[in-house]
Amino acid sequence: MNVGIIGCGTMGSGIAQVAATAGCSVMVYDTKQKALDNSKAKLEKVLLRLIEKGRIDEAEKNRIQGNISYENSLKELAKANLTIEAIVENLEIKRKVFQELESYQTQDAIIASNTSSLSIASIAASLKNPERVIGVHFFNPAPLMPLVEIIPAIQTSKEVKEKVVKIISDWKKVGVLAKDTPGFIVNRVARPFYGEALRIHEEGKADFATIDWALKELGGFRMGPFQLMDFIGNDVNYTVTETVFKEFYFDPRYKPSFTQKRLAEAGYLGRKTGKGFYDYGENAKKATP
Ligand code: NAI
Repeated sequence: MNVGIIGCGTMGSGIAQVAATAGCSVMVYDTKQKALDNSKAKLEKVLLRLIEKGRIDEAEKNRIQGNISYENSLKELAKANLTIEAIVENLEIKRKVFQELESYQTQDAIIASNTSSLSIASIAASLKNPERVIGVHFFNPAPLMPLVEIIPAIQTSKEVKEKVVKIISDWKKVGVLAKDTPGFIVNRVARPFYGEALRIHEEGKADFATIDWALKELGGFRMGPFQLMDFIGNDVNYTVTETVFKEFYFDPRYKPSFTQKRLAEAGYLGRKTGKGFYDYGENAKKATP
């Protein structure tokens, strides 16, 4: 099967690895050459680490890498049977990219979005054949996280839904069907995890290192909320909260935080820029609990 990936930042790179490991021929496209280069370099690093751990051998590494090509033009994804988009969380930009993609592809090609919070129905509505559109929401890091939310829009055909459920299972992931509502399942449930932690911090009740420590060491979470926001990216996490807040008619339970907004505006996006709530440079050890 030919798989197209649009956008190879955090998520697109991971999803490409998953599809290539499953034996698909994967074409990765990004508007930025630097993103393509980084994605390729990151995959090399990840696969070398897997060899070190004895999980794969050199032949498997070559097979996975040989399954992926890096493209500078969206047109190259014309022959993809399934395309998964993982670009910036912005409805208008996603719609534009999908419209362009649709003009290159045959009608039976499936177009999926990895959006965390946007309406699949409104993405689909911008296409001539909306029944081919579906949400396929991986979690970060995609190669390690088993869960994938599959979100059919009201326009999505039964055939597309069934095909995607099978593909996700073939890729050794656990697909869960979710309704096309803001944040789907996990991102909706997760909003208070971030939101309340931010409020506790803003009210001066505890600093973020203490909150993270309490939830991680004592609460049993793998990462505290601030560590997780830095891991996801403060730009992505803030935008998702803002969308869920607006889509639920400004329900105060989902109110976004100025602290995170300012971090995103400053470019303190978290791990991917070396600084977020924590500093991942030389001072990282001091800031991390
Ligand atoms: P990212 O910022 O790491 O990567 C986005 C990539 O898309 C960049 O390389 C950028 O150059 C590229 N891009 C932007 N506009 C483009 C366009 N018009 N055409 C082609 N490439 C374009 O973002 P990330 O974190 O990978 O998120 C992508 C999507 O996945 C978003 O919709 C986000 O909500 C969703 N998501 C993010 C998760 C996370 O933990 N970061 C988890 C699950 C979903």
